[in-house]
Amino acid sequence: MVVAIDGPAGAGKSSVARAVARALGFTYLNSGSMYRAVGLLTLRDGGAASEHAEKLDIELGDRVLVNGEDVTETLREPEVSEAASRVATNDRVRSALADKQRELLGDGDWVVEGRDIGTVVAPGAPVKIFLTASPEERARRRAAELGTDVDTVLRDQALRDAQDEGRAHSPLRMAPGAVSLDTTGVTLDDVVQRIVGLVHEAS
Ligand code: C5P
Repeated sequence: MVVAIDGPAGAGKSSVARAVARALGFTYLNSGSMYRAVGLLTLRDGGAASEHAEKLDIELGDRVLVNGEDVTETLREPEVSEAASRVATNDRVRSALADKQRELLGDGDWVVEGRDIGTVVAPGAPVKIFLTASPEERARRRAAELGTDVDTVLRDQALRDAQDEGRAHSPLRMAPGAVSLDTTGVTLDDVVQRIVGLVHEAS
């Protein structure tokens, strides 16, 4: 089965999705890594983002390999985040990556995080979560993770939110039937327990 976890940057998706996958023994998939990989390749090599997406050679696990190169840390750099958000507005990029994701999810049990998993990639997922947190809380978490200041993160975050919510193709929206969870001031453990409970109810 598929557990879809969508929401804006910094809502806590990665920590939550990883912990839920561990608790349930499901495989974790971070769909954002695919957009980041296409952003990185487009920055580095130029050319059409859609071609990079269609030819994408990526291995996703504890480390992320693109064309055999370990790019785990590079993918988290601010320029790559910005490039990812930019290429994510391209509908050919989105269709190519959504196809790859559907292919993976066709088999086995998954916890997938992204922006359009519940709306586009796996609308039939029995458990769909829309994770949110206040902008300040999200920026605080990202700043701590990146070792930068909150104001810079808050500015970049507002730009990425606007891009993610305003794009014509698959904008960030809560999927019909999704459960909205606000993680502001809630412990990771509590959020994970809530989702694990929803999975047990659905299975
Ligand atoms: O989740 P993460 O921050 O790593 O994603 C990087 C960027 O990729 C996001 O800002 C968003 O623009 C894009 N993305 C997307 N759809 C997804 C996952 C990520 O548009 N399913």
